[in-house]
Amino acid sequence: MTRIAIFASGSGSNFQAIVDACQQGRLDATPALLICDKPKALVIQRAEAANIPSFVFVPKNYESKEQFESDILLQLKEHEIDFIVLAGYMRLIGSKLLSAFKGRIVNIHPSLLPAFPGLDAIGQAVKYGVKVTGVTIHFVDEGMDTGPIIAQASIEVNSTDTAETLQKRIHEIEHDFYPTTLQQLFSIKGETITR
Ligand code: GAR
Repeated sequence: MTRIAIFASGSGSNFQAIVDACQQGRLDATPALLICDKPKALVIQRAEAANIPSFVFVPKNYESKEQFESDILLQLKEHEIDFIVLAGYMRLIGSKLLSAFKGRIVNIHPSLLPAFPGLDAIGQAVKYGVKVTGVTIHFVDEGMDTGPIIAQASIEVNSTDTAETLQKRIHEIEHDFYPTTLQQLFSIKGETITR
């Protein structure tokens, strides 16, 4: 079974959806570790409730990204992680992790990339006035929400939508789309992805 580490910075609703899918047998993976860069994030409580170990760190306590990624890498090795799933981890992945997990890091972003990368993608889409937006799942490279696209789902934006109402519908899509896409990815790549 593929052992995944989920990286998150916030409420962790996608973390929860992935953990639930694993527990319900819809995703053949073991959520073995949470990596979180925000000590107050709700996702930490979700990991505790699910008995999943977490590594929580404060980036500004380190001198460089390379240093905190070295600590992350130690944790990934200790927990025998095969694959990294970013789920609302609001930080660029550095060369240390990218080279150690080449082709084995994916991200979800709440827009149809390459439109609206970066922070507040949903707010950006509403502000721009697009009629269709969506969700993108992609492999991670050194860029901001760049890297080869694996799958996309679209959603219509209504004239009455605010960032909040749209976010709610996008989250509903994400919670189904992320586990389903991961399952397809893992089955295409072989029965399990292991190091
Ligand atoms: C999700 O909507 C995800 O697509 C987005 O953060 C949210 C996290 O929500 N990710 C990005 O914007 C990445 N650039 P969650 O903490 O409830 O899962």
